[in-house]
Amino acid sequence: MTARKNIIIDFDSTFTQVEALDVLATLCLKDNEKSDIIQREIKLITEDAMNGVMPFDEALQKRIELLPCNKKYIQELIEVLKNKVSISFQRNAHFLKTNSDSIYIISGGFKNFILPVVTSYGIKAEHVFANEFLYDEKNDVIGFDTNNPLAFAKGKVEVVKALNLNGITYVIGDGFTDYEIKEAGLADEFLLFTENIKRENLIQFADAELKTLDEFSMIQQDINGKPFPKSKIKVLLLENIHSNAFQLFDQEQFQVESYSHALNENELIEKIKDIHILGIRSKTLINETILKHATKLMCIGAYCIGTNQIDTLQCAQMGIAVFNAPYSNTRSVVELALGEMIVLIRNVITKNAKLHKGIWDKSVANSVEIRGKKLGIIGYGNIGSQLSVIAEAIGMQVYFYDIIDKLALGNATKCNTLHELISIVDVVSLHVDGRDSNSHLIGKKEFESMKQHVIFMNLSRGHVVDIEALAEAIKSGKVAGASVDVFPEEPNSNDDLFRSTLQHLPNTILTPHIGGSTLEAQENIGQFVSFKMAQFINKGDTHGSVNFPEVQLPSFEHSHRLLHIHENVPGILAKINAVYATHDINIQAQYLKTNEAIGYVITDIGKDYEIDIVKEMRTIDHTIKCRMLY
Ligand code: NAI
Repeated sequence: MTARKNIIIDFDSTFTQVEALDVLATLCLKDNEKSDIIQREIKLITEDAMNGVMPFDEALQKRIELLPCNKKYIQELIEVLKNKVSISFQRNAHFLKTNSDSIYIISGGFKNFILPVVTSYGIKAEHVFANEFLYDEKNDVIGFDTNNPLAFAKGKVEVVKALNLNGITYVIGDGFTDYEIKEAGLADEFLLFTENIKRENLIQFADAELKTLDEFSMIQQDINGKPFPKSKIKVLLLENIHSNAFQLFDQEQFQVESYSHALNENELIEKIKDIHILGIRSKTLINETILKHATKLMCIGAYCIGTNQIDTLQCAQMGIAVFNAPYSNTRSVVELALGEMIVLIRNVITKNAKLHKGIWDKSVANSVEIRGKKLGIIGYGNIGSQLSVIAEAIGMQVYFYDIIDKLALGNATKCNTLHELISIVDVVSLHVDGRDSNSHLIGKKEFESMKQHVIFMNLSRGHVVDIEALAEAIKSGKVAGASVDVFPEEPNSNDDLFRSTLQHLPNTILTPHIGGSTLEAQENIGQFVSFKMAQFINKGDTHGSVNFPEVQLPSFEHSHRLLHIHENVPGILAKINAVYATHDINIQAQYLKTNEAIGYVITDIGKDYEIDIVKEMRTIDHTIKCRMLY
């Protein structure tokens, strides 16, 4: 059985956009020449009371004393307030009505004007607690009922205590007196309502910020009765991801948990049940077994280049977007390639080894500049093209070969075939991706086609080069120097031993897959992937996702945005739009993108709609996920 829910809502600046007494002052004082001064004073007193600076009873007394008020102005005030109900409360009229058994309005304001406003939204009169004006026979306000606990400090606390509520109690309000209910242990959560006014000094007391009532109502209806503001979004970061990822999510007010290591399968299954955003690197395997438990997961960030460790198709089918960092370490690889090229072409490795053994071998033999030499880049992607620009800047002649037609940067020369390229260049540098068909792209035949004394470098993927053939080419002198950063088989950890036929060969640099391993790259990756995921959560952007149709969306301050992820079958867009049409909802912008697995429809709509449409959207056949952004 689910626990009973009690929702306590404040009136001034929460249910309505304004402070009623401030409006009342404008009405009562409209013919008073000191109107401005008195109104300012009333406003200051209101603020002091709401911020907890002035005791509530004192503030109330002072404000009433300043107001020469008659009943006819209260009537005028009611009309104003009915038009000033908070926008998200207007939008959630249905929610308020259907939850009227659970909702209590508790206010330090006055029933005389609160009742007509809130009961028109289905709130029960007996659930409204507020002060009451006293009138004389001329209907002038002469004071207020001082037997009412709400006329005094901690009045809300007294009222809630007397109500003796059972179950889970939420307080939604914008002032300190609302927090006092939670402080007294009478509520489970104080949700600071900031649609109309944001009192920064109260954020520290709030369990969460509610920018609109939608954040509360949607989840009350949809997710087991738990509210779902931003601070409820849970992020799990594994494998020692850079601390800037933690900071970025923390600033977003998400709850972040971070581990320096990978979790084992059981640990991950247990954790992932509650997680909305997951950050991993290459050691965490996200397969079907894990995903079965990831019922709340919205996106996964691979804080690395590759995403082979993730079942991205299954993720797409579950509406989970996957992001990675395809070029955050590009510059790091380029710099290492460039440095190694110089070291190899000057034969530094051999000279260094000799000198360590005490052999002074000063000679110019086999030592040349890279300026003017021909660099051949195989794979002109992120890394290859960046290397092209920098190598050219230091005077090399750049040639490149790519299987797709790529724009030649600077003065680089495009080659039509791999063999054309490798037969003319002095340095061969491999920067292709790791697709299966690239296995042994460079083997015995290719080494034979290369120039005598070529410099050969592989900082791309291990299986791309036939290692035995490379070893032979080095031994025979065909390759005068080689650098290899990636291997067909790499140790799983620093504790495992590394063995390769390339060990102990002359003028050969072997590095443990560190091309992209720099502090800057880690920082860039942390920033890049976290930003992408935050954009997805906040805006629906999927630009850079490896498994979602890619959309880069404009912002939507003046509308709400409904994201609908569905299986890619015909006719879904029409069904979505039929729901909007039935509810007479104004579509301000709409975007649709599909890939082989899923369709993604983003619709910006006017803020005037029934919140129930989200539920209705979810009933459309083939819907995977649907959520509203506001
Ligand atoms: P990318 O995807 O931007 O570029 C790869 C390029 O290679 C594409 O333009 C593609 O069309 C081309 N290509 C694929 N097969 C080819 C073939 N058979 N012949 C000619 N061109 C071919 O990738 P990016 O970011 O430039 O990375 C390149 C490689 O570097 C990848 O294999 C990546 O895994 C590796 N890498 C290694 C790092 C390290 O630590 N050593 C760090 C980062 C990346």
